[in-house]
Amino acid sequence: MATLKTLCVLLLAATSTVALPSLRKPTRLSPVVREGSKLLVDGKEWRAVGPNVYWLGLDENVTPPAGQPYDPNTKASYPTKERITEVMAVVNALGGTMIRAHTLGVSTGNPLSIWPTRGVVNEKAFDTIDWAVYQAGLYGVRLLVPLVDNYDYYHGGKYNFLRWAGFNLNQSKDSNNPAIQQFYTNSTIVSTFKDYIKTLLTHKNQYNNLTYAGDPTIFAYETGNELLGPIWGDMNCPADWVADIAKFVKGIAPQKLVFDGTYGINKTHLGIKEVDVFSDHFYPISTSKLQAGISAVEGAGKVYFAGEYDWVGTSGGDSLDAFFQIIEKSPAVGGDTFWSLFGRNAPNCNTFVNHSDGFTLQYGNPSNTAYTNSRIQLIRKHFIAMSQGKTISAQEPLPPVSCPAPPPSRFFTRA
Ligand SMILES: *[C@@H]1O[C@H](CO)[C@@H](O)[C@H](O)[C@H]1NC(C)=O
Ligand SMILES: *[C@@H]1O[C@H](CO)[C@@H](O)[C@H](O)[C@H]1NC(C)=O
Ligand SMILES: *[C@@H]1O[C@H](CO)[C@@H](O)[C@H](O)[C@H]1NC(C)=O
Ligand SMILES: *[C@@H]1O[C@H](CO)[C@@H](O)[C@H](O)[C@H]1NC(C)=O
Ligand SMILES: *[C@@H]1O[C@H](CO)[C@@H](O)[C@H](O)[C@H]1NC(C)=O
Repeated sequence: MATLKTLCVLLLAATSTVALPSLRKPTRLSPVVREGSKLLVDGKEWRAVGPNVYWLGLDENVTPPAGQPYDPNTKASYPTKERITEVMAVVNALGGTMIRAHTLGVSTGNPLSIWPTRGVVNEKAFDTIDWAVYQAGLYGVRLLVPLVDNYDYYHGGKYNFLRWAGFNLNQSKDSNNPAIQQFYTNSTIVSTFKDYIKTLLTHKNQYNNLTYAGDPTIFAYETGNELLGPIWGDMNCPADWVADIAKFVKGIAPQKLVFDGTYGINKTHLGIKEVDVFSDHFYPISTSKLQAGISAVEGAGKVYFAGEYDWVGTSGGDSLDAFFQIIEKSPAVGGDTFWSLFGRNAPNCNTFVNHSDGFTLQYGNPSNTAYTNSRIQLIRKHFIAMSQGKTISAQEPLPPVSCPAPPPSRFFTRA
């Protein structure tokens, strides 16, 4: 009896030793560095895989309770902390390592954004951004953050900067107007955009006292999302502007990597010294476009990234599995991020948030079809192959993520 009791105590001791890491202080994430066509963390290859989650700083899909900040014109509101934290737990469950997150950087021209108008800082907008960056760090999830958007969406983008400078342009009437190139070429606008970048990068996070420039959780900034010129697909985002913005970001934040935010692989940009990663988006999936892009970027000794793709696959295109296999086998591919993740309407654990573009991925939604879950399983298999070098079955059940989200204990000892 006594022996059994001792054994139990020993077992308990062993169990609590295993649980101990959750009591330790989290270690700050190591910076991601680029060496030629590879991304490295602590000298070992690191691959960037995860979801796009565009709404972490500011959302447009949930009407908040009366009295909470809300912009009825754009349906913009701040996401709850519970929704933000759940995303980090879902990325862990998927075997992901990072998130591409538009509204942690693109936040202009909306009353709820960082710069509602030129040069005016709305401190309240940083609450959700700070929380997302802080939670990502605790869960070991790194962040890729675009700095401006090509479009005129609720969270802002290049048209805000154009209008602030007196150019009365907007996406619905002017996307083909050559004057939109003033965003890249007009020195007044470029200097305002740099002021905005400075506001963002020098902001100190209330939850960890780190500036965004100094927090390695944000491993990279992207010069923008899907930047184009006046013709759809023209990749006409001037190389001089890309180099200038990349240099400016690295001047404030020397440890960040910079992604070229041009929509597509513009070969005239491949020599830009300050740019680390070049990327493309896939609607629908095209393995030939993927392969051509990888070859070009690899030839330049830089990293390739598939920044967005249609994971649903019901509107044509090549096989998602074939796309993933090329990515896994190509040493110059830094990773990929599917479009796009939503979660429960937490703290309400019973409903999921939906977005109207047809690409919403809701992890663990009991009403997902078998087809949807098989696609999520394929994504998880791919992420685990990329992040852990492990092959799992495409039928492996998806691990549940509780609501409220589980604490980040398994990452507390990770570098
Ligand atoms: C740049 O924008 C300003 C308005 O902010 C305008 O006065 C100026 O003429 C523009 N420069 C060029 C070269 O078009
Ligand atoms: C864009 O221009 C159109 C046509 O002038 C106008 O109806 C619309 O309200 C404008 N949108 C913005 C965001 O200014
Ligand atoms: C941030 O710094 C301030 C001033 O030094 C200090 O009072 C506060 O406790 C710090 N907060 C965190 C989360 O470290
Ligand atoms: C690529 O970028 C250059 C300027 O940097 C631009 O002149 C050109 O139109 C872009 N597009 C293509 C397809 O090269
Ligand atoms: C989510 O939105 C899409 C696109 O609008 C729609 O087809 C789908 O039925 C919606 N799903 C749910 C569960 O509301």
